[in-house]
Formats: sequence, C-alpha cells, structure tokens
Amino acid sequence: MKSGVPGRARALTAVAWMLALAAVLSACGSSASTPTAPPAASSAPPAATPTPTPAPALKVLAGDRYFGTAIGLPTLDRDAAYAALAADQFNQVTAENAMKWQPVEPTRGEFAWSGADATVAFAEANNQIVRGHTLVWHNQLPGWLTGGSFSSAELKSILKDHITTEMSRYKGKIYAWDVVNEAFNEDGTWRESIWYTGIGEEYIADALTWAHEADPAAKLYLNDYDVEAIGPKSDAWYNLIKSLQAAGVPIDGMGFQGHFDLQYPFPTDMAQNMQRFADLGLDVAITELDVRVETPATEADLATQADYYKQATEACLAVKSCVGITLWGFTDKYSWVPFTFPGKGAACLWDAKLAPKPALTAVQAALAAKA
Ligand code: XIL
Repeated sequence: MKSGVPGRARALTAVAWMLALAAVLSACGSSASTPTAPPAASSAPPAATPTPTPAPALKVLAGDRYFGTAIGLPTLDRDAAYAALAADQFNQVTAENAMKWQPVEPTRGEFAWSGADATVAFAEANNQIVRGHTLVWHNQLPGWLTGGSFSSAELKSILKDHITTEMSRYKGKIYAWDVVNEAFNEDGTWRESIWYTGIGEEYIADALTWAHEADPAAKLYLNDYDVEAIGPKSDAWYNLIKSLQAAGVPIDGMGFQGHFDLQYPFPTDMAQNMQRFADLGLDVAITELDVRVETPATEADLATQADYYKQATEACLAVKSCVGITLWGFTDKYSWVPFTFPGKGAACLWDAKLAPKPALTAVQAALAAKA
C-alpha cells in the first residue's frame, strides 16, 4: 500500500523530533550536574527552560506503514476532543461496530448504513484509509439470522447477498476487509459457528470468492485473536490459508488482533509467527491492539503495559509485509475492555481523560527508532 503519505518526509519529521528530544534531555541533564552560579544581577531574566517538542503523531512516526484506531459512533459526534485526537494521530480507521452484520442488516434484506457511512465520511474528511470490519463472524449477528432455520443453500445465499451488498456500497473506499473473523477455537478446531455448522468449512472460500467479486481492489483478510504466537490456533489458520491458496482462492492478508492481557506473558515469537504468514505471500497487520490490566492499574502495571505495546509494535516493524497497526480504541474513556472483561481495563494508550500514558511514549519511541 501503504498509506500514500510520503514516508521520507515522515521519517525526517521523526528524526527531527528525536534530535529535539535528545537536546532537551541533555540540557536538563547538564543544568542538573553543573554547580549553580550566583545570579549576576537580581534583575537577570530567569534561565530559559527548554520547551519539549511535542512528539509527532503516530501516523507520522509510522513512516510507510499506517497507524490506525477503531472509532466508535456516536462518540465521534458527541466528544470533540476524542474526534480531534482520532483525526490528528491516525491515518487509518476501523469502525468498532458500525460495519458489523447486526447494525448493517438488522432486518433481512433491509440495510441500514448510517453508522458505516459516518465512519467512511470521517475517514475521507481526515485523509484516513478504512479497514472494513467484519463480514463473516459468529458475533453481533441479527436475531433473524441466529434465530432462523436455514438450509445450507439458503445460508449461502444470505451470506453472498450480505457480502455483495455491503462491499458494493463501499467499493473503492475500503482499503482492506476482514472477510472472516475468528473461525477457530483455541485448540485449532473449527468454531461451531452458524456458518460452519450450516455450510461447512467451504464457507470461508465462498466468502473470499464473493468478496473478491464485489470489490476486486480491496485487500481480503482473515482475522483472529490469540493467534499472535505460534500454536494450535495460528497453525490452523496457516494450514487453512495454504490450502486456500492451493485452490486458487483470493486472499491477501492475515490480521492479528492483538488483544493482550498482562496476566499472560507477551508472545515473544510474534514477529516470527507473522513472518511465516508473510512468507506465504500475504500482507500481515495488527488489527485490534490493546493491552488490558487489572484495575485499578498501578504504576508498575502501566510500565509493563508500555513494554507489551512496545513489543507488539516492534513485532510489526520487524516484518516487512506488516502494513500497519490498528488500536482497538485509543482511550480508556471508551474502551470495550471493562464491559467484556470485568475487573480489567486501562487498556489503551491514552487514559480516560485523554492524557497520554507511558505506553504511548513507548510506541512513539519504538516507531521513531525504526524511522
Ligand atoms: C467488540 C467491540 O469493541 C464492542 O464494542 C462490542 O460490544 C463487541 O465487539 N474482536 C473483534 C471485534 O473482532 O469486533 C470486537 O469488538 C472485539 C474482539
């Protein structure tokens, strides 16, 4: 891709920021270690305090990769500071919920586009690319679908219609689609979703084929959580992708959600794992990054969290075909985590008052080191 913003200009901005940061640090250091001279005259102006240069936006530091976030609606309309940060820091957005089946097709054959349209409009207004999320999933499905009783042929036609209608509406406006989300269990067996039980494993090849027909230019991704390490679940995807490719099924990328939890060690083989998918000729991306901690978070938690974010960022940067990183929300103010994982939270780069956390500095430094 990648984001269309000249990488060299961004790299220079990042280098300038690092030099400025180094100058500020050394100025602070030397005044601390130099014996204080008596003031020459009581009217002398106070010594100038160096003003720290604000860090460039994540989208600038990311160079040729994109740096994005999930965005929530109607939060964007209600919270101007949130919207401003989303516009300033990121050059890619994903609708946190607005493009999922339930909001888009709440009644069979009747489509509701307001949230999805608003997401695309925000992205266009702010020069951001959009990842479409998600077409085939077991969650956030409308009642008419989960409560219905459909033959395999009917389910296929429902699925094809949904994919074709949604992708056609945004044809040419979506950089990449998460076509299939979360198809496997932790042990690498198939998840018994409505799609798997109703159609069989061919639903994935079908979905990718229909998606390619609907928008041939969009990058088609498979996406999952707990696939960051090499293990049964990522192996299942790896083997499936190899067989899909052998059968000529269109597929462009593998998305690693990246929902981390300090309770578990960071998967230090993440870059190696992403690389093996890249070696299949795919793009790879971190699509939903956050790092949850037990709340209330201590300073030590936030320092460890910063290290997880740093390692995740470095994993992407280590893989040439890693096209970008998407945060699953950038502020603790609106994160999904406390609602889904009771007792956990504080998972984002900015806190609930939109103030930067140590993790933000860690990500900025990791990106800048690669600029
Ligand atoms: C989550 C949203 O963040 C929540 O607001 C919603 O209630 C549930 O879904 N994996 C995914 C995302 O692929 O779509 C999920 O988003 C988080 C886990």
